Amino acid sequence: MKKNYQFITFEGIEGCGKSTQAKKLYEYFLSKQIDCLLTREPGGCLASEKIREILLDEEIEKLSPKSELLLNFSSRIEHVEKVIKPALKSGKIVICDRFVDSTFAYQGSAMGLSFKVIEQIQRIAIQDFLPDITFLIKVSVEEAFARISSRGNNNRYEKLGTEFHQKVYNGFLELAKKNSRINIVDGAQNQQQVFQKILNIINQN
Ligand SMILES: Nc1ncnc2c1ncn2[C@@H]1O[C@H](COP(=O)(O)OP(=O)(O)OP(=O)(O)O)[C@@H](O)[C@H]1O
Ligand SMILES: [Mg+2]
Repeated sequence: MKKNYQFITFEGIEGCGKSTQAKKLYEYFLSKQIDCLLTREPGGCLASEKIREILLDEEIEKLSPKSELLLNFSSRIEHVEKVIKPALKSGKIVICDRFVDSTFAYQGSAMGLSFKVIEQIQRIAIQDFLPDITFLIKVSVEEAFARISSRGNNNRYEKLGTEFHQKVYNGFLELAKKNSRINIVDGAQNQQQVFQKILNIINQN
């Protein structure tokens, strides 16, 4: 790894393979004796995991997009301050399964909140704190849903249907276009092939 990628995030629609690839990268670093933390959003610390429970609760049919926005950022503030920044400060690599790009894709592109509003809250919550590199795992909505269809207990977002998730998908691609931090990785191949592409990007820079 030539460039100093200390804070690494994975993004993409439900079922694209984020958790699978985040874990692979975590295990790769550990195998190289590189100190590393694997965490996720929403969540990653006690308060934020409790906020996650609300955000994903199947019993809650609908939340206002603004509520979702603020809950996600509340969760993120706690996670960043209590877990991510201290880990980075102690020299660890931090791998996070979803981060701020998900808020733009879900609450922005798919739920209709303006990017300007999201950016304002982002500034209040985390100022200019961003990942060093982000992997957007690109898998079609149809393929991703086929992958998770066997999972049984669907969370609130998985119940929202293909039209919603197509908007999330498009939103992520738009973000990647505007932002060189975000690397699109074709996630359609098998897990090991996808992981090899991620490693190539990490090691080429
Ligand atoms: N490259 C792949 N090819 C086929 N199946 C895969 C691939 N990567 C992951 N899967 C499988 O697809 C399912 C979803 O993967 P994973 O949980 O990693 O996705 P995710 O993006 O974290 O989903 P979520 O957003 O719901 O947390 C799992 O059953 C996983 O084993
Ligand atoms: Mg996951």
